[in-house]
Amino acid sequence: MWDPGRYESGFSFVWKHGAGLIDLLNPQAGEVVLDLGCGTGQFSAELAGRGVAVIGLDNAPAMLAQGRINYPKLKFILADAAKFELPGQVDAVISNAALHWIPDAGAVLECVRRALKPGGRFVAEFGGKGNIEAILEAVTAVVPGAVNSWFFPSLGEYATLLEAHGFRVTHAFHFDRPTQLEGERGIHDWLEMFGSDLLRTVHASERSAVLGRIAERLRPKLFRDGTWFADYVRLRIAACI
Ligand code: BEZ
Repeated sequence: MWDPGRYESGFSFVWKHGAGLIDLLNPQAGEVVLDLGCGTGQFSAELAGRGVAVIGLDNAPAMLAQGRINYPKLKFILADAAKFELPGQVDAVISNAALHWIPDAGAVLECVRRALKPGGRFVAEFGGKGNIEAILEAVTAVVPGAVNSWFFPSLGEYATLLEAHGFRVTHAFHFDRPTQLEGERGIHDWLEMFGSDLLRTVHASERSAVLGRIAERLRPKLFRDGTWFADYVRLRIAACI
């Protein structure tokens, strides 16, 4: 499903927007930090640059293989964020733009809690309630019955879930972050990269025409001054145990 080459060349905004999340974590030199959903490793490398020992974890073999090529000195683990167990506990877990892919959020939090040392921190940013609402509306209008299986919780829902799993929530933000896409075909590329599940009922022979119709529907809302913007809404949280 994932195409690491395409991901790295056209979607660098995913990890470039993560710097503020690392500031929120405030990692200390020598700490061990798990990067949950590390993709091709750029965000893990940013963390390593701040002096911490990073473990990158992802369930997509192709992405992880590319991460190992990109950053041979970093440690990577192929595992499912809702089922993993680490050999030892870590000081912190961080996750950037990954948790909306995993509907079983409770299972993720169970694994995160078990992975943390006493007093350990968990910091995450991902799609919150209202994320890509315009994109989903346009897709559903053009492809009736398209199923959205992403997890975009409200701040209240996610904070409650964290508390139910033994975390103390120290920061929680829910904010709009329109995100610039690359090029004239930005929204097509976004849908091709991330929308395969959403568009699974569309036959390959019709895909290009369908993407064109979705883009035309979105143009008045998401195309400004020659640039496409995805209507991202982020949930950013920090919690500890
Ligand atoms: C996001 O980062 O919000 C996102 C990315 C891909 C698909 C859905 C949401």
